[in-house]
Amino acid sequence: MECILAIETSCDETSASVLLQHKVLSNVISSQSFHQEYGGIVPELASRAQLKVIDRITKEALQIAGIKLRDINIIAATQGPGLIGSLLVGFNYAKSAALSLNKIFIPVNHVEAHLYSCFIGRENINFPFLGLIVSGGHTILVLVKNYFQYKLLGQTIDDAAGEAFDKAAKLLGLPYPGGPEIDKLSETGNELFHTFPTAKLKKNQYNFSFSGIKTSLLYFLRDNYSDFTISKDISTIPVKDICASYQRAIISALLERILAASNEYKVKNLAVSGGVSLNSKLRSEFLNLAKRDYKIFFPEASFTTDNAAMIGYTAYLKMKHKRNFINENTVLEPAFARFDYSCFNS
Ligand code: KG4
Ligand code: ZN
Repeated sequence: MECILAIETSCDETSASVLLQHKVLSNVISSQSFHQEYGGIVPELASRAQLKVIDRITKEALQIAGIKLRDINIIAATQGPGLIGSLLVGFNYAKSAALSLNKIFIPVNHVEAHLYSCFIGRENINFPFLGLIVSGGHTILVLVKNYFQYKLLGQTIDDAAGEAFDKAAKLLGLPYPGGPEIDKLSETGNELFHTFPTAKLKKNQYNFSFSGIKTSLLYFLRDNYSDFTISKDISTIPVKDICASYQRAIISALLERILAASNEYKVKNLAVSGGVSLNSKLRSEFLNLAKRDYKIFFPEASFTTDNAAMIGYTAYLKMKHKRNFINENTVLEPAFARFDYSCFNS
C-alpha cells in the first residue's frame, strides 16, 4: 500500500500532507499573512519564512496522520511552476529526505495537481472531463481524455483570472488577496450596474485575456469617480455594484469558454479548480449547469487554494496510472518557469 508524504511550497503557502493511497490522512497548511502589508507576495520573504517552518509542518502532518516517517514509501513535492526560492525550499527538502531515507521520489506539476484536486479521495475519475484551472497565477482549459492524457485547449495570454481580481482590489483600495473581498462585496451588489469588457480572441477561442478588464476598471474609476482615485475613500463610490459587475465579466468569460468546449468536444463532465473556484458567483453558475445534464466537480475548500494533499494525490495517480514517471523531469528546469504546462502536451 502506498503511503505518501507530500510537500507543497510553490508560492507563499507551506504545506505537508500524508496520504494512504488516494485517502488524505492529514493536510497541514501554513499561510503567510505578512505579505498583506505589501499588497502582494514578496518572494524573498516567502522562501525565508518557508525555510523556518517546513520541518515543523512536515512533522505535524505525520503526527496528525499517525504515521511514522519509516512507514512512508513515497515522497512527493511540487516541482513547479512557481516562485523559484519557494520551490527550492520544498523540492530540495523532499528530495533530500527521499534520497537519504531510500524512498521513491515523485515530482509533481502544481497546475496538474490543481486539476486533479477535484477528485481527491476517489480511486477512479469520470473521464473524459474538461478541466478549468483558475488561480492567482494560472488560467487554463484542458480536455482530459484519461489519466495524464490531455489536450490543452486554451490559457491566458496575459493575466490570470485570480490576478484580475487581485489587481482590481488594489485599484479599489481593498486588501490582498482581492478575490475573496470582491466576492463578499458582490453579494449585495448589482451586477448589471456596468458592463466591463473582456476580450474575445480570434486566434484561439479558448484562450483568455484578463489584462484589459483591469485597465477598463482603472478608466471607469478615473472617468466617473475622479475624487476617489485621489482620496481612495471607498464610501464615495458604489463599490458593491462595481465589484459585482467586474466579477460578472470574469465569470462570464470563464463560463463562455468551457461551455463552447463542452459543445465542441461533447463532454459534460466539468472540473473547476484553483483559488478562484471558491468564488460564489462561479459556484452558483456551475451548479445551475448541474441542474441540466452536466456533472460538476469542485475541490473541497481545503484542497482549493495551495495545499500538499493535491500534490500527494497526483503522485498517487502517477504511481498507479503513469509509467516511466520517476526520473522524468526530476531536474529543476524547465518546471520552474512560470508557465510550464509541458505536462499537458500528451
Ligand atoms: O490557487 P491559489 O491559492 O494560488 C495559485 O496557485 O495562484 O489561488 C489564489 C487566487 C488569488 O488570486 C485569490 O484572489 C483567488 O485565488 N481567490 C478568489 C476567491 N478566493 C480566492 N477569487 C475569487 N473569488 C474568491 N472567493
Ligand atoms: Zn496554486
